[in-house]
Amino acid sequence: MSVLFLSGSPSLRPSRSSALLDQVASRLIVAGVEVQRLSVWDVPAEDLISVRQHGPAAVALRHAVNASDAIVVATPVYNASIPGGPKALFDLLAERSLAGKTVLPLASGGSVGHQLAIEYTLKPVLSALGARHVLSGVFACDDDVSWSGDAHPFPLFRPELTARLNAAVDMLLSLLPPAIHADRATAASRANGGVVTHSRENAPVDVATVSHPERCSA
Ligand SMILES: Cc1cc2nc3c(=O)[nH]c(=O)nc-3n(C[C@H](O)[C@H](O)[C@H](O)COP(=O)(O)O)c2cc1C
Repeated sequence: MSVLFLSGSPSLRPSRSSALLDQVASRLIVAGVEVQRLSVWDVPAEDLISVRQHGPAAVALRHAVNASDAIVVATPVYNASIPGGPKALFDLLAERSLAGKTVLPLASGGSVGHQLAIEYTLKPVLSALGARHVLSGVFACDDDVSWSGDAHPFPLFRPELTARLNAAVDMLLSLLPPAIHADRATAASRANGGVVTHSRENAPVDVATVSHPERCSA
């Protein structure tokens, strides 16, 4: 039993939406929840474009979705919508594969004017896949996340964003069945058809919090 984290960022650079995902994953791991993580990069582009539902990557994805009790999905906003990559990832899932699962959506975008993209572009896809329990999402403006360090950029969050993420984690934790909490901290990080399982010991490093005077422009 686990929570599946899906990263939808096509970015090869440090990804803000993935940093949101890491922050939520860190808190769940500390709370004793076993998490699995998959990225749009774990599925070959050819499989995404051709919707190869029986390819090994799609099978591993569907297995991970089926095995999860809850899903946290993070995506950037592209042209006021979710990018093609994460949409193609969702298109590999079986019909109603999100039924009975709690879903927490996260998104980042350059403009606060597009914060409702979660509502009008991501949630309809989740709903079409059978999700009926979708939590209020967390949207971060690019100005809410800055980077420290060049070689290994480290995300720095505005306190207000950290507070909103923490509230979302608390809500998700309150909805997870007790059995989902691991009775031990499993140390191993194992590969499972492209799925990586994290545990307390290999938790992503907690992001720091920093104040910024500027705001995202609408
Ligand atoms: C092709 C492209 C289109 C974008 N369109 C939008 C947009 O319509 N609205 C917005 O708020 N941000 C837009 N952005 C900015 C990204 O959503 C933003 O930088 C996001 O934080 C990137 O997330 P990532 O670092 O996880 O990839 C766009 C970026 C790219 C590359």
